[in-house]
Amino acid sequence: MASSNAAPGNVQRWLPDRYAAHGRFVAELGEPLLVLLDPRPGERILDLGCGDGALTMKIAGAGAAVVGVDASAEQIAAARTLGLDARVADGQALPFDREFDAILTNAALHWMKDADAVIDGMWRALRPGGRLVGEMGGQGNVEKIGGALVAAMDRRGLDGRAAFPWYFPGPDEYRSRLESRGFEVSCIELIPRPTPLPADIGGWFETFGEAFLLAVPESERAAFIEEAREALRPALQDATGAWIADYVRLRFTAARPADEAR
Ligand code: BEZ
Repeated sequence: MASSNAAPGNVQRWLPDRYAAHGRFVAELGEPLLVLLDPRPGERILDLGCGDGALTMKIAGAGAAVVGVDASAEQIAAARTLGLDARVADGQALPFDREFDAILTNAALHWMKDADAVIDGMWRALRPGGRLVGEMGGQGNVEKIGGALVAAMDRRGLDGRAAFPWYFPGPDEYRSRLESRGFEVSCIELIPRPTPLPADIGGWFETFGEAFLLAVPESERAAFIEEAREALRPALQDATGAWIADYVRLRFTAARPADEAR
């Protein structure tokens, strides 16, 4: 699973080589969700925001028939090389109708700002009785990283907040959205998860923060990255030189009731 399902208008690009170097941990750290999902042979499962298919393969390995969707054509091409049924789709306009026993979504929903459209599509995609297991960036996620990028833009007279590409809800807000659509929520919680990065924080900016970088004139970009890096160094770099991202996950399990009337 990757973190890619950009909303229309989102400038973030997903380049498989760059993602493999700087984002492989996303699927690895998503593995606890598989335990919650508990995929069974013969089940039909949707992986929403499947990215390059790393976690999708594990669902398939359990014997389920899995469909992966992602907004990035590059990531879907990478997922197809693994032999997966992977399709380009906007998570805010899912085209499925009551065809899945379960949905898994990892590190993707925070890229989709129209949360109710996503929830509506997940509801429609599940059969009555179907289950939903998800994890996304939650309230407080990358607060320091995002703050440094916004501040470095603001210092240049650019509107950093307007470039902010993510949606990081708290549990009460997201529970209320799910329940408004009819989901029964069995668990929803924030999990602080400081996350060691595989390389320099500049690689993270380039892999996940293009909405900020591309808003800065190219001639200014190296200085912009350097400034954000130096602002973050005291808080996010440890004594060994490793960078630790200030991630907070919002994890939830829910179901479309079997006996619902709507
Ligand atoms: C996340 O997984 O929380 C995340 C990844 C990239 C950008 C922002 C958040």
